[in-house]
Amino acid sequence: METTLIILKPDAVQRGLMGQILSRFEAKGLQIVGAKLSMISQETAATHYQDHKGKPFYDGLVRFMTSSPVLIMALRGNNAIAVSRKMMGATFGSNAEPGTIRGDFGVSNSFNLIHGSDSPEAAERELGIFFGAGEVLDYDRAIGGWVYDLSSGTAE
Ligand code: RTP
Ligand code: MG
Repeated sequence: METTLIILKPDAVQRGLMGQILSRFEAKGLQIVGAKLSMISQETAATHYQDHKGKPFYDGLVRFMTSSPVLIMALRGNNAIAVSRKMMGATFGSNAEPGTIRGDFGVSNSFNLIHGSDSPEAAERELGIFFGAGEVLDYDRAIGGWVYDLSSGTAE
């Protein structure tokens, strides 16, 4: 099982889209194992997006991410990182495919609603930025045995 870091960005919160976006992940079967509504500090945004420092869009990106509360989540499931990225769609809303979150809910190339970790290494690093010890939970869901085939002893 993988755990990935998802952020519903300020535009998703301000536009009242948190519920609809969250519902897609729940319906998919991904388990919410951490969640907090938070204002991101300049320092945290800079650490999170450190790989983009120096790029033309970097200053605007940090300003955007710190402009209003965001919903920070840890989602767990089989292949959760790639599954979430596929559900998010391409970076720019203007060319994200219909059926994806960015494709269905936005058309902007800057305000693109959602962040998702893009590799296991990034997920580990990013979860460490936003969640402290004990804030990402391990718990069984009553539906667990229907989301996955557990008959072999592993989740298939
Ligand atoms: P994210 O990290 O937020 O999940 O998005 P991503 O992987 O799809 O895209 P990435 O290349 O990591 O870029 C991070 C965020 O920077 C903004 N961006 N603007 N104007 C531009 O050319 C440009 N490129 C990227 C977007 O908000 C993107 O999500
Ligand atoms: Mg990225």
